[in-house]
Amino acid sequence: MVLKRTAVITGGSEGIGLATAFAFMQEGCRVAICARNQKRLRAAKERLARTGDVLAVRCDVGKSGEVKKFISTVKENFGKIDFLINNAGVLLVKEFARTSEEEWNSVLDTNLNGIFLVTKHALPIMQKNGVIVNVSSGAGKRGFAHLTAYCASKFAVIGLTESLADELKDRIKVYAVCPGGVNTKMYHSAWPGTNPHSLLQPEHIAAKILQLCLKQKARSGSAIEIYNIRDAVEYVKERWL
Ligand SMILES: NC(=O)c1ccc[n+]([C@@H]2O[C@H](COP(=O)([O-])OP(=O)(O)OC[C@H]3O[C@@H](n4cnc5c(N)ncnc54)[C@H](OP(=O)(O)O)[C@@H]3O)[C@@H](O)[C@H]2O)c1
Repeated sequence: MVLKRTAVITGGSEGIGLATAFAFMQEGCRVAICARNQKRLRAAKERLARTGDVLAVRCDVGKSGEVKKFISTVKENFGKIDFLINNAGVLLVKEFARTSEEEWNSVLDTNLNGIFLVTKHALPIMQKNGVIVNVSSGAGKRGFAHLTAYCASKFAVIGLTESLADELKDRIKVYAVCPGGVNTKMYHSAWPGTNPHSLLQPEHIAAKILQLCLKQKARSGSAIEIYNIRDAVEYVKERWL
């Protein structure tokens, strides 16, 4: 019997992570998601469960003990990981001089250390020919005023991606994606009043992540920028339209 492929998606209760979970489930994968807020996680699980097998575990990716438990629950239930999507992230919009040490650390804990912890625990059960996709940002390619902690974390994600890809050779492919503005709670909480139709939609980013995982055509270690719908939808056109 061939086991279904398993996708682990951090920050899967909302936004890009939830759209990505749906995309993998539509391709017949089993999906494991995590997030901190139990109520939103449960709501996401109920929606996803209508499509297939889903596991939802409360876990803060910045906390080593919680990550260890999350990944061992995935191992107990699904046995292996084919695709790891390190998507959980937080945004801080604040002048550098006013950023506290606590705020700086909390951005780095989720956006960077979270990827280190989840990947470290997941790697031993990742399949050969598996894929890791780290969600960076356009703000991981150039710096912006009032986004120093966020940009520092997202630039670092690209360095981590390139280095890990080099280390794992082609046994497991490692990519970063760098989206521009996406219509999610994160974006609107920072820039309220933006026309949602002027932004990318979470499903566009999900489609690109799915394409990277299933096709594996891009060079391992690359950071793929997604700034407009054209960058994002070739897979959707090819597969779903
Ligand atoms: N929206 C954009 O314009 C945009 C652009 C470029 C890149 N990105 C990146 O895309 C990713 C997803 O962003 P989004 O816009 O979809 O954000 P979102 O709608 O705010 O969703 C973020 C998700 O991450 C979870 N999360 C946050 N901190 C976590 C932690 N420490 N541990 C576990 N889960 C955590 C949240 O759940 P809980 O709060 O319950 O934990 C939620 O499920 C982020 O890495 C973000 O930096 C977003």
